[in-house]
Amino acid sequence: MPTLLHIDSSPLQSSISRELTREFVNTWKEKNPSGRVIDRDLSVAPAKPIDQTWIGAVYTAEDARTPEQVAHLGNSDALIYELEQADEIVIGVAMHNFSIPAVLKLWIDQIVRRGKTFSYGANGPEGLLKGKKATILVASGGVYEAGTPAGAMNFVEPYLRAILGFLGITEVKFVTAGGAAQVMMGAIDRETFLKPALEQVRSLTA
Ligand SMILES: Cc1cc2nc3c(=O)[nH]c(=O)nc-3n(C[C@H](O)[C@H](O)[C@H](O)COP(=O)(O)O)c2cc1C
Repeated sequence: MPTLLHIDSSPLQSSISRELTREFVNTWKEKNPSGRVIDRDLSVAPAKPIDQTWIGAVYTAEDARTPEQVAHLGNSDALIYELEQADEIVIGVAMHNFSIPAVLKLWIDQIVRRGKTFSYGANGPEGLLKGKKATILVASGGVYEAGTPAGAMNFVEPYLRAILGFLGITEVKFVTAGGAAQVMMGAIDRETFLKPALEQVRSLTA
């Protein structure tokens, strides 16, 4: 059964990135009627920040961990399990301060784990999440065209490509609804603004 992991990270329930992931999920379901969707709303249920106990537990051999260490890794284990189950991942991202929302970074810190999602071998680091596709749906107030001075301020796409690639997820597509500030200023209505991004999203799953 194909499985899609659907992640949202915007704090706003009426957000633009959420509207894009909703479209993606609906189109994906039409295409995969027997498929399973795992919903992970990081804004409603944020992952915990990693701390000293977490780092100590991760760098203790699995069979030597104390019950406290095992329990402390429960959140990480559960989030990694969801990721392992998924054939595809869709992540809704609100650009915050030129980067990803803090709750998405918390999730990343929990799922990047040596021996679980990456390993160090003779050839250096190796991602262990192979054969998965990721689609990243971004909303940003401004427009960040590659090769422009503004484009150099977009840390969302390069960071997510780097960290997903580190984990072995190299088939990554981005759709960006850039210029959302125009909607807030009333310069364009939301529907007109969203139309091209929604069409792009539908074409990805077609
Ligand atoms: C705290 C905060 C920080 C933001 N930082 C940026 C930014 O650095 N660059 C930008 O273009 N837009 C920025 N925006 C605007 C958002 O990217 C825009 O509102 C977008 O629609 C957010 O996605 P969402 O609608 O899915 O929440 C920021 C918005 C908030 C609330």
